[in-house]
Amino acid sequence: MKRIVVLNGPNLNLLGKREVSIYGTDSLKEMENSLKQLAHTKNCTVDFFQSNHEGDIIDWLHQCSTEETIGVILNPGAFTHYSYAIRDAVAAIQPPVVEVHISNVHARESFRHQSVIAPVCKGQIVGFGLKGYELAFLSFFL
Ligand code: DQA
Repeated sequence: MKRIVVLNGPNLNLLGKREVSIYGTDSLKEMENSLKQLAHTKNCTVDFFQSNHEGDIIDWLHQCSTEETIGVILNPGAFTHYSYAIRDAVAAIQPPVVEVHISNVHARESFRHQSVIAPVCKGQIVGFGLKGYELAFLSFFL
């Protein structure tokens, strides 16, 4: 069975309560439920992980190098802007990784304009709220 993995980084566990004017009022659970429905229509499984710790994200990326994993959706949170270790892990694994940001990082503080991870990703989706995860999911079926 085909599998897609969704990895969320630091502070995203607070989605729905955190800076709601930027990130909205929906929680990760709501996004997970929509992706589970989408996965059902595509006859594949979807697994979700969230951690506030860089090493956990790297370990999970390594575990994505399996034959059945056809794609990884990654929102590295603030690690996006400076984690060469996560970048190297993305570059090291087999499946394509799509980077997602809920907010439009390019319309925010200048330190958010750069992603050190995007150059080793298949693509990047920013600014569409939690719908961005669905768009990333569908990108693996184009
Ligand atoms: C974010 C954007 C990052 O700059 C920020 O640090 C986050 C969330 C987003 O989804 O918009 O934690 O990745």
